[in-house]
Amino acid sequence: MESLRTPTAPPAPVGGFGVVAPSSDDPDWWRNAVVYQIYVRSFADGDGDGTGDLAGVRSRLEYLRDLGVDAIWFTPWYASPLADGGYDVADYRAINPAFGTLSEAEALIREALELGIRTIIDVVPNHVSDHHPWFTAALAAGPGSAERERFWFRDGGGPHGDEMPTKWVSDFQGETWTRTQNPDGSPGQWYLHLFTPEQPDLNWTHPDVKQEFHDVLKFWFDRGVGGVRIDSAALLVKDETLPEVPERPGPGQHPTVDRDELHDIYRGWRAVADSYPGSRSLVGELWLPDIQRFAKYLRRDELHTAFNFDFMARPWDAIELRRSIDTTLAAHAPVRAPATWVLSNHDVTRPVTRYGRHDSSFAFPAKRFGIPTDLVLGTRRARAAALLAAALPGSLYVYQGDELGLPEAENIPLDRIQDPMHFRSNGIDPGRDGCRVPLPWRGSNSGFGFGPDGADKPWLPQPKDWRLLTVEQQESDPESMLRLYRDMLRLRRVIAPPGADAFHWLAAEDGVLAFSRGDRFVHLTNLSRHPVELPQHERVLLSSAPLIDGMLPADSSVWLRTLSRQAGDAAVA
Ligand code: GLC
Repeated sequence: MESLRTPTAPPAPVGGFGVVAPSSDDPDWWRNAVVYQIYVRSFADGDGDGTGDLAGVRSRLEYLRDLGVDAIWFTPWYASPLADGGYDVADYRAINPAFGTLSEAEALIREALELGIRTIIDVVPNHVSDHHPWFTAALAAGPGSAERERFWFRDGGGPHGDEMPTKWVSDFQGETWTRTQNPDGSPGQWYLHLFTPEQPDLNWTHPDVKQEFHDVLKFWFDRGVGGVRIDSAALLVKDETLPEVPERPGPGQHPTVDRDELHDIYRGWRAVADSYPGSRSLVGELWLPDIQRFAKYLRRDELHTAFNFDFMARPWDAIELRRSIDTTLAAHAPVRAPATWVLSNHDVTRPVTRYGRHDSSFAFPAKRFGIPTDLVLGTRRARAAALLAAALPGSLYVYQGDELGLPEAENIPLDRIQDPMHFRSNGIDPGRDGCRVPLPWRGSNSGFGFGPDGADKPWLPQPKDWRLLTVEQQESDPESMLRLYRDMLRLRRVIAPPGADAFHWLAAEDGVLAFSRGDRFVHLTNLSRHPVELPQHERVLLSSAPLIDGMLPADSSVWLRTLSRQAGDAAVA
């Protein structure tokens, strides 16, 4: 175990125990890590109140070790009123009491490291909760105060100040400005929130804001955290002149997205991360259509990686997926950053559901209730897609429940929905609760082992037929999604050892993606409508569906071990 202290620094106990070092010394661990995303509220409920918590996670760490993950990314676990599932943070240094305590988080980080699993926390720098002390102080201090300068308070337009300062549209639809009330009850200034009114945007030109987030990073790195997922990473900087959004903004010209000043902010964050030994990595949530602009964030002194949403959003189509893989790898190569492969997360439709639809691409504006879905087909494709994503060079993200093949829960009663995206669309968008339903662990009684026996009902209802998808059920079924994921992640260590970035497309018939990694491994995904021949091989390592007469059926993937030096030459008939 390497030390996180310089030789001269005295040992400083932090939060009741010594500073924690990552368990492995590999400085490049993040380049091909398998990262498992935990949505804390819905992973496992340790205390039986119907809400997932840190005790629940601690009791399931061996499950994650057996699955074969290198790191866990926790969606925000901080004190929060949960107006946006925790992405409204009231205190970045405290754990939400519904989830546990800081000392439990410290114990969890340590216990995970003992199993070889790093912890990645989610830092939300674009906005805070309206319950954050900075914001409540800003409201109380009134117009013109120093406290308001940490946010975007502005007078309204028009003779009575009742016109919003801009017409910017929220990422959650609707307005981005909310008017405040003066202490005497009269209408006051407006403040900016790119998401909900409960998430006021911070002013990143303010030195307090920059300093605070450096301190928050240090607070968690001191506790042994191995990485940070940066929420809404492209939105922090705004054009201070507050122009309207141009019809076709050129590079860096959008008033709130991907502004050039962001790069210096992340250089500062990287310097903080690099001041710790053991490679503390930064992964950005960057939804950017321009992949060249995206890659700029991955320069050597900025972020380590960023989510590849392009791949995730593409439909089940060989040309589309190949194009995404090519543009991704080509854009990452010059900055020498590894790609990430992401099939889903807590914001998007579960793959089993998405791939079972006529339009299998993903786009937020297209989300609707009642889209016809073939879950058998979707599951088959999701299995094939998992093997594809896991075989590509770079790091892999697995969202909790995808390893169980959970579909999107589409029948949540309207009065149980919590996601603000649903409400802000006037009920047109079903929202994101359908991918956030508590996991089924065991048994066939209500709750499916999400909490201990006799626990309260889970905070969102689970579909009844999830009794067939519990971990317990799937462990004993060699054909299950869980067993596929376990085999896949175990074999991935062999086919993609650290540093093995080699990747070559192989000739293949239309509708087939075929590539080699190194000289003994070949991957095939068949997106055509009929079975295809396999190239010469020594052994089938893994397939997402049974082969038919030695052929790979439609909507499936296979991993092959080839004879030495044969992989690069193999062609698929
Ligand atoms: C990110 C998160 C999402 C959240 C939003 C606002 O996109 O992934 O869940 O609602 O930021 O913080």
